[in-house]
Amino acid sequence: MQFITEILSDILTKASKKANYDITLSVTPCELESLGDYQCVDALGLAKVYHKSPVNIAQDIVSQVDDKIIKSISVAGPGYINITISEEFLSHYIVEYMKELDGLASSHVQKKKTIIDYGGANVAKPLHVGHLRSANIGESIKRICKYVGNDTLGDVHLGDWGLQMGMVILGIKREQPSLVYFDKNFNGEYPKTSPVSLSDLERIYPSISKETKENPDTLKEAKDITFALQHGHKGYFALWEHIVETSKKDLKANYDALNVHFDLWLGESDTRDDYDKVIDFFVKNNYAYESEGALVVDIKEENDTKEMPPFMLKKSDGSVLYSTTDLATLIERYKKYNAEKVVYVVDNRQELHFVSLFRVAKKYNLVPKDMELVFAGFGTMNGKDGKPYKTRDGGVMKLKNLIEEVKKSAEKKNSDESTLDAVAVSALKYADLSIMRTKDYIFDPDKFCAFEGKTGPYLLYSLTRAKSILRKVEKLKGEFNASFCDKKILLTLTNFASTIISAYNSLSPNILCDYAYNLANDFNSFYAKTSIINEKDVNKKYSMCLQTEFVVIILDKILNLLAINTLDKM
Ligand code: ARG
Repeated sequence: MQFITEILSDILTKASKKANYDITLSVTPCELESLGDYQCVDALGLAKVYHKSPVNIAQDIVSQVDDKIIKSISVAGPGYINITISEEFLSHYIVEYMKELDGLASSHVQKKKTIIDYGGANVAKPLHVGHLRSANIGESIKRICKYVGNDTLGDVHLGDWGLQMGMVILGIKREQPSLVYFDKNFNGEYPKTSPVSLSDLERIYPSISKETKENPDTLKEAKDITFALQHGHKGYFALWEHIVETSKKDLKANYDALNVHFDLWLGESDTRDDYDKVIDFFVKNNYAYESEGALVVDIKEENDTKEMPPFMLKKSDGSVLYSTTDLATLIERYKKYNAEKVVYVVDNRQELHFVSLFRVAKKYNLVPKDMELVFAGFGTMNGKDGKPYKTRDGGVMKLKNLIEEVKKSAEKKNSDESTLDAVAVSALKYADLSIMRTKDYIFDPDKFCAFEGKTGPYLLYSLTRAKSILRKVEKLKGEFNASFCDKKILLTLTNFASTIISAYNSLSPNILCDYAYNLANDFNSFYAKTSIINEKDVNKKYSMCLQTEFVVIILDKILNLLAINTLDKM
């Protein structure tokens, strides 16, 4: 099924041929309702080609248009073509459109096997607001990619193989030195149950992390343990497995609360059998060299205007690092998962790391040159002080506390107890998603929870309201007539698929947030003016009901793509 903009573009293109112009014209929705439903601004760029004023060119084209789906067409301003479509056409079109809805965006997109790398929590280390934003944005991007028909996998890519693991193991060793994991002579089977609980980890990491900052000897010890862990120390590895499992359980619960679900629970450590081969490849081919004790490769390119630091494969102490595991992971995504596209949803501040990663992989032909590697960076959620948000006690942020804080604001709005959680999570998630991905924003729970304006609760409320209207009217039979509805709402509905496509192309859930907000807003104003329940004219009532049903379907789909749970009642 063609989009209305495509149908109109074809009509104008044909008319332009008839008017002896050989051009393909394109039509877009009109920003200003009063001017028309759609517009074409292409004549403006054609003056030079045809040595004619854009107004004249536009008029020539318009004079050749003859199609009954167009109610009126005119030339305005410096040469804009404004188009209004007929209600009759719209009535048929929207009904067909809604029938074919789920295939529409997909039929307009070229498919790729895609992996979304998001979440990125670090084992045994507290989650911070950046991880939450990655989870929220990444989950939505993953759903959008799937929705438009890509074979898509989401991978949490846990941080589970770095220095923090050595630190935590050291912390445990300090508290419980007699554990078998630390006994060099132990030869038996290691215990099945974990010697540490989540609250142990929550206590151990901050204290040992503080100590490594203050005491170089502690840092050295943690580094040595990390090195040993990475090089096959059996005891540390067995303990490490317990730490990872304990931490994962908690992470899963946190992600569940946000409606974030991963297809793959892989991490840095999953490359442990592969990265030595990758390092060997660079060494054998003489691509790698030593710099200040570390093993690095050059990734400079001829046209670089800025200094490009080399890519690091091994630290001076011999341990592998973030860049090494990321490179091995990327190669595995290509080889094992046949990924044609990988999207990394990570904090803006890591851009250089990813630019370097993509370069090294392509420069040395470790992945195909046409593999699409995208860094989808995002800004930070800041506190009122402009720094990354911390909870009131200044300590590490916990999702539970964060949701509690938002709930306090939601409570002020008198929500019913059972829906408070959903309202708070929707508020938090919508705030994360609705800001342009790359921008920072300020944590302001009162604003997030407002029942009016661009907020999660407003969307939930609008959707439940529409649903409740539908519950109150009996099932009707009739003929759908757009003239009884709000044309703006119907036109917005017919933009659903193209909106998804633009959110997909730019990996920007905020485009969906804006779309849903505008739709909800128009819907609420329409129903403030009209009473559908008391309507006597059957066809009118039927049409208004169907419009409501369409709005419900679309809002439901968008909230699902944003991974925000909806409510039946509020
Ligand atoms: N664990 C990392 C961090 O906390 C984020 C991981 C992002 N993904 C990746 N493939 N590097 O900063």
